[in-house]
Amino acid sequence: MAESLAFHQRHLITMEGLSRDEIEAILAVARSFRELNERDIKKSPSLRGRTVINLFFENSTRTRSSFEIAGKRLSADVINISASGSSTTKGETLLDTAANLQAMVPDVVVVRHAQGGACEFLTRHLECSIVNAGDGRHEHPTQALLDLLTMHDHIGDWADKTIAIVGDVTHSRVARSNLIALKTLGAHTRVVAPPTLLPRDVQNYGCEVHYDLERGIAGADVVMVLRLQRERMQGSFIPSINEYFNMYGINRDRLHRMAPGALVMHPGPINRGVELASDAADGPESLVLEQVKNGVAVRMAVLHLLGQGTGI
Ligand code: NCD
Repeated sequence: MAESLAFHQRHLITMEGLSRDEIEAILAVARSFRELNERDIKKSPSLRGRTVINLFFENSTRTRSSFEIAGKRLSADVINISASGSSTTKGETLLDTAANLQAMVPDVVVVRHAQGGACEFLTRHLECSIVNAGDGRHEHPTQALLDLLTMHDHIGDWADKTIAIVGDVTHSRVARSNLIALKTLGAHTRVVAPPTLLPRDVQNYGCEVHYDLERGIAGADVVMVLRLQRERMQGSFIPSINEYFNMYGINRDRLHRMAPGALVMHPGPINRGVELASDAADGPESLVLEQVKNGVAVRMAVLHLLGQGTGI
């Protein structure tokens, strides 16, 4: 397949260092798989005889099931391991777990871990391809890729587009991967949050920084809303949930008033009434379920390209 010739990575850990051509190659392959996913028989022989292990040390609904469906649609043998059922709860180190899995000769290991850097660490100790399915607050590259596919369907060329990312940027691996990728693609990005929820080095991502919601989302083509990652917060980052919603929460009325025509995205899980009101989450501007649908196609593309798939 011509598009995949542009993709030369062995692992997918970060959006950093992926060229525009490589991102577009993945999205092109994902579009082909999206067509396959519309058929009655959603099956490609691409990864027949290959083994994909989903190793999840953190909770997940969407991402884990999305990778599982993706692997199965490519005819791979897919094994799911989650932390609660794994030997980590018996005291095994990540390295021992990984070495034992390597002994079973998988082709791709998809990893979600609470510690940033865990996936990169595994690339140095395993022989197979590693896909980062979210490592701490570091990165979540397949989420960024599915977000890019979804946005591109609606807004087209990136050059003159503005994406406003609203919410808990500090703890968000989704924001980080998106900011890196959108910079590579040449879109304008803004982050909108109280100072306590913005990392100190946020300017390095080439984005505008806003503390005021109205100014932050004015004229945006897309408003990407982030969950308050309370499980990663130690101490108090906001005065109260109510106050947070009053200042930064997105509902349809605000959207129409502050950013007319803007589309709404959210990686899920949504905390309704905390960062996003139901009328905006479920309204005609919402791309939330399209994101989930595109997630399967993007993960098929990534597994196909890394697992040396043989044609769609
Ligand atoms: C995100 C994650 O886990 O980082 N969710 C996801 O993968 N769909 C975002 C979040 O948990 O808020």
